[in-house]
Amino acid sequence: MSRLSVCVVGASGYTGGELLRLLATHPYVEVTMATSREYAGKPIHYVHFNLRGMYRNLKFSELNIDLLLKKCDTVFLSLPHGVSLNYVPKLYEAGLTIVDLSADFRLKNPEAYRVWYGYEHPYQDLIKKAVYGLPELHRDELKSAKLIAAPGCNATAAILSLIPLIKNKLIHTDRIVIDVKVGSSEAGSKPSISDHHPEREGCIRPYDAEGHRHAAEVEQELSIIARHEIRVSMVPHAVGSIRGALASSHTWLINSLDDTELLRYYVNTYKGEPFIRIVYKLPPGYPDPKYVIGSNFADIGFAVERRLNRITSFAAIDNLMKGAAGQAIQAFNIAKGFDESTGLIIVPPKPV
Ligand SMILES: NC(=O)c1ccc[n+]([C@@H]2O[C@H](COP(=O)([O-])OP(=O)(O)OC[C@H]3O[C@@H](n4cnc5c(N)ncnc54)[C@H](OP(=O)(O)O)[C@@H]3O)[C@@H](O)[C@H]2O)c1
Repeated sequence: MSRLSVCVVGASGYTGGELLRLLATHPYVEVTMATSREYAGKPIHYVHFNLRGMYRNLKFSELNIDLLLKKCDTVFLSLPHGVSLNYVPKLYEAGLTIVDLSADFRLKNPEAYRVWYGYEHPYQDLIKKAVYGLPELHRDELKSAKLIAAPGCNATAAILSLIPLIKNKLIHTDRIVIDVKVGSSEAGSKPSISDHHPEREGCIRPYDAEGHRHAAEVEQELSIIARHEIRVSMVPHAVGSIRGALASSHTWLINSLDDTELLRYYVNTYKGEPFIRIVYKLPPGYPDPKYVIGSNFADIGFAVERRLNRITSFAAIDNLMKGAAGQAIQAFNIAKGFDESTGLIIVPPKPV
């Protein structure tokens, strides 16, 4: 099989680096372009030290759309929110497959962009064409997708933790509180006053506690499953680890189900999913991002506080993998008709 030509735009950043790491061994892909404004002309390993020897014939290049259209079949956009918007229409019109890791095409309701991202979305026709790139919910639509909106990392963890409960109508959907702990790589590679290493190391700091943007995509996706509108309260916490996100979603059961029944729902919901692992009462107890780091797995589990009939549903992911680059490639594999695990069978190391 001839290899597909792939371009990573925003390749000097963290999700761009992860895409390059994964695509380096993807059997059906050749990376023909990797863009960075700051590092154009430098070798890939000048920024991504872990990729030494992997891209001997490739250097970062300026983002030149005309060149990109000539050289690529698929484009991964690892750009900040609001920047992908400038490129997607032309790429789409030219017939390329686009996987956008930013939030620019995740939300179906144009009004939500104004509320959560502060701008009017200029391409409402393209919003309709974009497929939300969570394979566990949109596998069939992804099969013919030309524009894939890769989900946010906190949103991925939150949604995956709640699918079994919503799908099987096990909880009161008017009271859902999602707590997410996430590592510092979530904030991207450019240090900020609060997110560079000396400030972030050792912290446990809530942020966006009055309303986190990812609530919009979580509500959108859970409402589709429930077939009625769902609102969630979501508070992320910045923690000192570099990678990893853990969603602990607190909800209340409608009926008092025992653990065996609940476990059956979780197992059946995710039956056949290549990257979901159910974690139930084995050491170390509950899902922990430490044991998915570097992989595309999402570890899912639950605990019930019996006296209150409250269930906490957990999802642990690597924010740069199942929360970003890994999931983006999983969705790309589906869109291109490859086995969806291609290039993604990575066993997480221990200890890390
Ligand atoms: N980090 C995560 O855990 C994570 C998870 C899920 C989704 N995401 C989303 O993925 C996207 C990328 O995140 P990241 O963490 O990889 O960010 P990052 O580390 O800051 O990288 C951003 C990249 O975009 C390039 N860039 C920035 N502004 C640009 C512009 N105006 N025009 C062209 N290129 C520009 C930068 O390179 P140059 O400045 O050299 O051009 C850099 O390569 C974001 O939308 C983010 O929200 C991130």
